Amino acid sequence: MSAGTSRPHCDHTPAWALLRDHFDRQGRALDLRQAFRTETGRFEAFSQQAPHVFADLSKNLVDAHARSLLLELARECGLERHRDAMFAGEPINNTEQRAVKHWLLRAPKGASTDPDARDVHTTLDAMLAYAHQVRGDSEITDVVNIGIGGSDLGPQMAVMALAEFALPGKRFHFVSNVDGHELAAVLPHLRPRSTLFLIASKTFTTIETMTNARSAKAWFEAQGGQDIARHFAALTTNVAAAGEFGISSTFGFWDWVGGRYSMWSAIGLPIAIAIGADGFRAFLAGAHEMDRHFASAPMAQNLPVRLGLLDVWYRNFHGFASRSIAPYHSALRRLPAFLQQLEMESNGKRVDQHGVALTVATSPVLWGEPGTNGQHAYFQMLHQGTEVVPVEFIVVKQASHGLPGHHEQLLANALAQAQALMQGKADPGGHRNFPGNRPSTFFLLEALTPASLGALLALHEHRVFVSGSIWGINSFDQWGVELGKVLARDIAPRLASGDTSGLDPSTAGLLHKLRAGG
Ligand code: F6P
Repeated sequence: MSAGTSRPHCDHTPAWALLRDHFDRQGRALDLRQAFRTETGRFEAFSQQAPHVFADLSKNLVDAHARSLLLELARECGLERHRDAMFAGEPINNTEQRAVKHWLLRAPKGASTDPDARDVHTTLDAMLAYAHQVRGDSEITDVVNIGIGGSDLGPQMAVMALAEFALPGKRFHFVSNVDGHELAAVLPHLRPRSTLFLIASKTFTTIETMTNARSAKAWFEAQGGQDIARHFAALTTNVAAAGEFGISSTFGFWDWVGGRYSMWSAIGLPIAIAIGADGFRAFLAGAHEMDRHFASAPMAQNLPVRLGLLDVWYRNFHGFASRSIAPYHSALRRLPAFLQQLEMESNGKRVDQHGVALTVATSPVLWGEPGTNGQHAYFQMLHQGTEVVPVEFIVVKQASHGLPGHHEQLLANALAQAQALMQGKADPGGHRNFPGNRPSTFFLLEALTPASLGALLALHEHRVFVSGSIWGINSFDQWGVELGKVLARDIAPRLASGDTSGLDPSTAGLLHKLRAGG
């Protein structure tokens, strides 16, 4: 598929009409309890082992016929051609005329003939050597990552998730918000001579990051810090801008790495400092295994494909508008936020790749908190609310702590919640009635390691690719974030000047109130 080739609108395909018909006749009424009674082998048929990740999809509102029609839909929408175009390095990000090659960052040396492969490994080696040096530098006790969006969420989530593998003696801080409260809360705990600031920004123009970076540099200098080259490094595709900012230690990457897909690049430096070169290479290797699975497993046994098609089935036929992420591992507590950006920034679009309005719904809202905390907060709504929200349990078999009794409780709760959602409980009294038949997916990792985390994250990247591909959108741009940035640039000086000319009455009124004495 060349980048210019159109993909058909999914809702204009024969498979879509058949899915609609099947949904209206049977799909809508599918009862999971009944399905498990009548379909022997449903658990096996609707589960899938992929590299490092086992997924039980059997408690989802889908039957064998819907599944085969969804695979037919994927064929009619040219999913395999589109996937192959990505892995061939074609410029499938057509609105920015860019290739989409985050997968290349994970390909081992010599595994890819892509023209950028050599450069990727040279940069990776340099970055890992730097990480090694920082790890060995006992004077550096605090690493402060300044970045936002993809330059924050991925590294922050992964550093937390892999804390067990981290070098003791180094603290990691993540400053993203332009709200000065965030940086101001970190600075008092730092000393210039023992701090390394990583300024992470693909573009090196993002207002939040530049504002925080300038304040960090001003603080450093005001505290008597001198050696910027030793205490500041930039992670960016815009090496020139980093130089102008006064940073000479720079690790670059490429415009074909989207921000939310960038933790495998130099943006992953905090991860590499935390878990070391071998750990980071294992993280890349786990993701690469998932890349191979996505690129080569038959569609019917291809986990990202199965998940992405289920997402389409839920969004467009069942009409489910949100999905809840429930990681049953406290180290995965930032995973819902990471997945939010990954899916909602990639697929929260209302036009196809050519800008033509879509007639189907796209990205659901993703949200969640670690289990079991969520159970004592919003699970009420999941069990008895009026909306059906598919839940995704992410469970790790082996605990990495030695506290007796905890892990059994944790696992029992994950199983019980999935069971309760599906089974429900009849109670004529009303308040104690659980309707049941509420869908969930259960992901199971043997252990939370760099490799299994890498595989889990690559799985989600590819799953988002699949649903975005079926919907015919460009999952790799993010024009929707631009307007607010432009307006903020216009409003900022007005806060000082009080000029409200041309503003709508609400914005003008609020601006007036926000000004001193207003
Ligand atoms: O505003 C959205 C966005 O462009 C994201 O896509 C990106 O991850 C984030 O801002 C940060 O961008 P940068 O890494 O260029 O600072």
